[in-house]
Amino acid sequence: MTRITSYRDLGCLVTGASSGIGREIARQLAQAGARIVVTARREDRLAALEVELKELGAKDAFAVVADLSDPGAAEQIVRAADAHLGHVDVLINNAGFAVPGTFMRADLERTARMIEVNITSSVRLARLVLPGMVTRNHGAILNVASIAGFQAAPYQGTYAGTKAFLLVWSDSVHQEVKHTDVSITALCPGVTDTEFFEAAGYRRLGRILKHRMPVDAVAKAGLRGLVKRKMEVVPGFKNRVLLFSQRFVPRTLVAAVSRRMLAGRPEPQRP
Ligand SMILES: NC(=O)c1ccc[n+]([C@@H]2O[C@H](COP(=O)([O-])OP(=O)(O)OC[C@H]3O[C@@H](n4cnc5c(N)ncnc54)[C@H](OP(=O)(O)O)[C@@H]3O)[C@@H](O)[C@H]2O)c1
Repeated sequence: MTRITSYRDLGCLVTGASSGIGREIARQLAQAGARIVVTARREDRLAALEVELKELGAKDAFAVVADLSDPGAAEQIVRAADAHLGHVDVLINNAGFAVPGTFMRADLERTARMIEVNITSSVRLARLVLPGMVTRNHGAILNVASIAGFQAAPYQGTYAGTKAFLLVWSDSVHQEVKHTDVSITALCPGVTDTEFFEAAGYRRLGRILKHRMPVDAVAKAGLRGLVKRKMEVVPGFKNRVLLFSQRFVPRTLVAAVSRRMLAGRPEPQRP
């Protein structure tokens, strides 16, 4: 076994596949002829996706309903994926959500669940499948981080913190397995046209969504970056220019500009 050059016949596990980036990645994997296990909480969405993926060309598609804030979910999902795929060749750690608003006002339990889903479940899933990938010298993991992980993001600080963790962790493990044919890629999207902001509970979306990227372009960039064994992928020219320009500015100034830009955002509907 060697490096991944195409997704045909590969066993792929996609989290957060009931909408947005995860669903689109699953669709593109299906079109490429992969065997796919998808997971999320919404059973009806997953059942419809299972059918759609087979119609699109997936060699096999199977849905596992699970809540990734449950500490036992990762093991349950990997057991089901192994049963259907033999083993996982490609893990897409995509599930995630945001708890926006000031740190002091954000609901603590929801914030803790966000850390569990965005960080802990990704770490658990990767830890369960990576040793097998390295033994087979074949496999890849795509961790969906965010451009929010590159700098302070007042009013969505804990969310940005989860993405900063994913980014640094993903880059680090990428280096640890670099001598093998296994690769780890962090996908860092900017604002993307998904249900993300609705799920977070933002009331007015106009300004936030003005520069959003289409979800198919983001998914395509991630899957292409994985095959190219990239350490990080930032989809969209504007997002790349934004991140590049920040390199020449002190972090304190970037944080202050973020505060000015994000301060006008409405508080979320949820308490
Ligand atoms: N949209 C953006 O602007 C943007 C930008 C940068 C990064 N991202 C990242 O991209 C990833 C995908 O988000 P998206 O934009 O596609 O948003 P989305 O449309 O809201 O999709 C989020 C997915 O995560 C799943 N999920 C949420 N909580 C879960 C839980 N407790 N257990 C299992 N699955 C759970 C959801 O499924 P269920 O609700 O059915 O469980 C859904 O499938 C996230 O990690 C997000 O942080 C998004």
